[in-house]
Amino acid sequence: MKIRILGSAAGGGFPQWNCNCANCDGLRKGSIDAVARTQSSIAVSENGSDWLLVNASPDILAQIRANPALQPARAVRDSGICAVLLMDAQIDHVTGLLMLRERATPLPLYATAQVLADLSQALPITRVLGHYCGIDARPIAIDGAALTIPPLHATTFLPVPLRSKAPPYSPHRDDPHPGDNIGLTIRNGTSGESLFYAPGLGEITPQVEAAMRRADVLLVDGTCWSDDEMLAMGLSRKTARMMGHLAQSGPGGMIEVLDRMPARRKILIHINNSNPILREDAPQRAVLAAHGIEVAVDGMEIDL
Ligand code: MLT
Ligand code: MN
Ligand code: ZN
Repeated sequence: MKIRILGSAAGGGFPQWNCNCANCDGLRKGSIDAVARTQSSIAVSENGSDWLLVNASPDILAQIRANPALQPARAVRDSGICAVLLMDAQIDHVTGLLMLRERATPLPLYATAQVLADLSQALPITRVLGHYCGIDARPIAIDGAALTIPPLHATTFLPVPLRSKAPPYSPHRDDPHPGDNIGLTIRNGTSGESLFYAPGLGEITPQVEAAMRRADVLLVDGTCWSDDEMLAMGLSRKTARMMGHLAQSGPGGMIEVLDRMPARRKILIHINNSNPILREDAPQRAVLAAHGIEVAVDGMEIDL
């Protein structure tokens, strides 16, 4: 099976429209060794033409254009995207749903009850889409059971609850519930290999630790290099941790976590435009390389 990285950046993308940090400004001017990235999303396929979209980024239309495999052109109106699964209700993971409204049939949408509630009330995307293609809501239970998502019959998806927060717009932002955010173990039933995906990972709970240990490939939160990165650059009043993201460097950081994992590939995704690892020649990149850690880029493909 194939896992294609459609977007590898955090919310805002790289470069971010209103940002002139050294990375964003340097990329626009061509003065740094870095490539542009769209907002975080992946697609999963067994046969190369039917795809499950995991998160629907605001950049979805550009991502579909950049990945011709997502348009198999079997009919005058067609898409390789068969269904969408959401890991949370954050703006950078859900607003692309509105761009899929021209479908002829309701869009199968897999998400937890918490996420479906936010998307029918506080940010009523599913109600709005009711006036276009409609949504076929498939609630995901967090009960330790894996699910299959047609037409991917040889793949299982196991949701892992994450200790994090609902989005800033959610009425339960400060009242966290299991199901506000999930990680996902994607297992190829044929090869037996699995990948753990968690673009927003703030805390390594025992359950997350166990899921990461079992995975052959890790595709996890690469938002910030240091916890106070955005504070220090004057870009935000929040630390990475306050936003539900575990920084890479420092004690207990993602590099330390990944060091103890047996996975054959360790890849960072959801990279914020402030992060120095976006520069191919940054010393922080050499540190990652020494720990066997890769940095995702749009269009990267993972075979499982
Ligand atoms: C996050 O990952 O913390 C959020 O997506 C931030 C945002 O809303 O842009
Ligand atoms: Mn995000
Ligand atoms: Zn920037």
